[in-house]
Amino acid sequence: MLSTIYYLLALLLIKSSTNAQLNTLPKPVVKADQKLFGPFIEGATFFNGSILAVDPFDPTSKTELKNGIGAVDVKDGITRLFLRGAPQAQLNGLRIVDGGTKLLAADPAKHVLFVHPITNDGVATQPSSVISIPSSVGVPNDVTDTVGGGVYVSGGKFQPVGAAKDGEVWFVPLAERAQPVKLLTLGRTNGIALSKDKKTLFVTENVAQRNKIQSFQVQTDGSLKDQKLVVDFDPATNKGFTADSDLDGLRVHPVSGNLFVAHTGNGKSVVEVNPADGNIVRTIGVSMNNPTNLDFSPAGDKLFVVGRCGNAPFGQGNGCLDVASL
Ligand SMILES: *[C@@H]1O[C@H](CO)[C@@H](O)[C@H](O)[C@H]1NC(C)=O
Repeated sequence: MLSTIYYLLALLLIKSSTNAQLNTLPKPVVKADQKLFGPFIEGATFFNGSILAVDPFDPTSKTELKNGIGAVDVKDGITRLFLRGAPQAQLNGLRIVDGGTKLLAADPAKHVLFVHPITNDGVATQPSSVISIPSSVGVPNDVTDTVGGGVYVSGGKFQPVGAAKDGEVWFVPLAERAQPVKLLTLGRTNGIALSKDKKTLFVTENVAQRNKIQSFQVQTDGSLKDQKLVVDFDPATNKGFTADSDLDGLRVHPVSGNLFVAHTGNGKSVVEVNPADGNIVRTIGVSMNNPTNLDFSPAGDKLFVVGRCGNAPFGQGNGCLDVASL
């Protein structure tokens, strides 16, 4: 009996040394019963020891603030209302850009990108600019870091089954009076991120329940060329991807440069992909069926994942945050 247990333990150890494993499993830090965030939690972004995420509950009135940003202290999990945006705003993707001097908040319903300056005192509540993007679909859903004075944004029609031409990619200059430019029409786009050297743009695409990550080469004028398929999550060959799978937030690891993508739609995981060969490095199980976005600690040793808690259906339940040591 004991020798069987030792044998199984040895097998487990061998398995964990040959497969890339996490140092510790993701731990829920914000849980459903705490009712700190609503079901549209999104935009996980690390800032000054906290994770910022949208759709917090007002701590006093307990109403859901779709125009709000909450901050979860990563050390003690204490959560506070961080910023209350324009009254009608419905925020989604968040990014800290330009070397930590601006917080960008995307509103796909109103087609605007809010730019909040960051000083030593923190993030300004009043945006320094509100950039309109003349799209007729859900743009901007998510947003990259800056390159060439602007950012790339994704978004599209969110119908139950993604179709060709549902999605768009725009370049949005942050300079006053410069106009956003629509660069691409793809399938449903969602996660969007720049490589560490900012020469490559990665975008998720969903067409007919099939998920892919595409890459493009960034040109000095902000235009994109050389579309390349990085990975095709074909349900027939990629374990864990089913017809209801979808991709959401996408980030590039600050050290390895690998892609981490939220596998939502009952995906229950974050998938790490090597962009050089499209291989899945590891699949990180999380406590929620529908993770929506993620970010890293600055050193890249921690992974933060937000999404609807447990198996809550779209638009229902609460928002949760898991933390894992990579
Ligand atoms: C970071 O947090 C500290 C308190 O922990 C605060 O004093 C400081 O102003 C914050 N910095 C910014 C840029 O928000």
